Amino acid sequence: MNIETNKIAGAALSTLLVVMGLNMMAGIVFAPQKPAVPGFDLPSDEPVAAAAAAPAAEEPIAVRLAAADAARGEKAVGACKACHAFEKGGANKIGPHLYDVYARPKGAVEGFAYSAAMKAKSGEAWEAAQLDGFLKNPKAYMPGTSMAYAGIGRPDTRADVVAYLNKLADAPKPLPAP
Ligand code: HEC
Repeated sequence: MNIETNKIAGAALSTLLVVMGLNMMAGIVFAPQKPAVPGFDLPSDEPVAAAAAAPAAEEPIAVRLAAADAARGEKAVGACKACHAFEKGGANKIGPHLYDVYARPKGAVEGFAYSAAMKAKSGEAWEAAQLDGFLKNPKAYMPGTSMAYAGIGRPDTRADVVAYLNKLADAPKPLPAP
């Protein structure tokens, strides 16, 4: 190493130190003020009742089904395929196969190890309203279910998926009329 490279290295080093120092000072001067409670403040003149108002009510599933599209539903089930087979004769994976699931009794696929929560509901069938409720939030609809899936938030997308699931049958069942 000659003197020239030492000078360059020294200059680089001191530049680095200056930048780091500035950074720290900026951090102190502009330290973000964290609110005591995370979130954001509502304007204080907002009536409390309005802030706590319930979200807009969802249309009943029968009404949403009237405008549903099974082809859109088919596109929306990509995430399900990690766990479910949809085709006729499909194998059970992490979840049971879903061919002919519409109006099938809950937890009825031979050889699939359902949760106790699902088995307890074997007297019910997967009609539109049940599928809609389960797919919205599986764990809330059926506490104890082993389906590790957050749910489909959009009401119209859920209707599309229900319409698609109904199509997965040799003879699709009639959907509820609005
Ligand atoms: C991480 C894996 C996983 C994903 C993703 C998943 N499921 Fe499931 N699903 C399961 C398991 C496991 C069960 C069985 C639940 C139980 O026994 O409680 C199940 C059960 C079901 C059932 C009841 C079937 C029966 O025979 O009673 C339906 C309907 C269903 N899933 C639909 C879906 C749809 C539609 C999607 C996508 C929107 C989806 N699932 C995403 C794992 C999954």
